[in-house]
Amino acid sequence: MPDLSSYTSETIDLLLNRVSVRKYADKPVTQIMVDAILEAAFRAPTSSNIQAYSVVVVRDHDTLQKLSAVTGGQKHVANTPVFLAFCADLTRIQAAMKMNGGSIEANSLETGLVASIDATLVGMSASLVAESLGLKGLMIGAVRNNASETAKILNLPKQVFCAFGMCLGWPAEEPPQKPRMTQAAMVHHEQYGNHENGQTPDALLNTYDQDLSAHYISINKPTTTDSWTHDIAKKFSPEPRANLRKELKDQGFDFS
Ligand SMILES: Cc1cc2nc3c(=O)[nH]c(=O)nc-3n(C[C@H](O)[C@H](O)[C@H](O)COP(=O)(O)O)c2cc1C
Repeated sequence: MPDLSSYTSETIDLLLNRVSVRKYADKPVTQIMVDAILEAAFRAPTSSNIQAYSVVVVRDHDTLQKLSAVTGGQKHVANTPVFLAFCADLTRIQAAMKMNGGSIEANSLETGLVASIDATLVGMSASLVAESLGLKGLMIGAVRNNASETAKILNLPKQVFCAFGMCLGWPAEEPPQKPRMTQAAMVHHEQYGNHENGQTPDALLNTYDQDLSAHYISINKPTTTDSWTHDIAKKFSPEPRANLRKELKDQGFDFS
């Protein structure tokens, strides 16, 4: 890896130091702050200017408890000062189509995908803005453990689903960073497979297993020597969230 130190900026520092934070101080995140975060985040690029996302801002204790239950009882969801639910939202596209005599009823895979990408870009932008103001948090994909229940809790209509949520608060912990795989493994030059000083995929995973295992040992987290490959293989077999395709179809998104 060449010396990258001549390229510095606040944004680079922020990203190089970012880490998911799951404990928050008992200090509110004001609505004006959330408004400022979202105002900036909504400047994220959006496919064909469709702006196919909505954000539900949740503070209510009971609603947070219910969302926490969907996520398998994640405490940070129950205890977060504010939870932002980033939703893919096709309702405005549907309205535009209706005004012009059409319908999105048989919406395609592409529509659902671009709405999800739009929501994700806004979510990541919000995360960066929030961190630039000193807040910390993390994204919560476990709202898709039961997409129908999450939709019910948030009163999401058809053609809207919560792609992921985000806990945000003032940090009450400073977790060490989790190592990432090396750039040499992820970056391909001109065509897939051309790595600069790259390792073979298996060698890369072997190295990363060791790095991640060392990290988990350093924070007293149970692990195995084949940490990442072991955990990932376990995570994806059997198929996680096997009901999701049907739940999203019920919400009006056809990912089949
Ligand atoms: C889309 C998405 C969904 C996530 N869902 C959860 C979640 O439900 N619960 C959780 O504790 N962490 C969740 N995370 C956080 C990841 O576990 C975390 O980003 C990853 O382990 C890397 O750690 P780091 O963010 O501290 O670098 C999610 C992250 C992303 C991007």
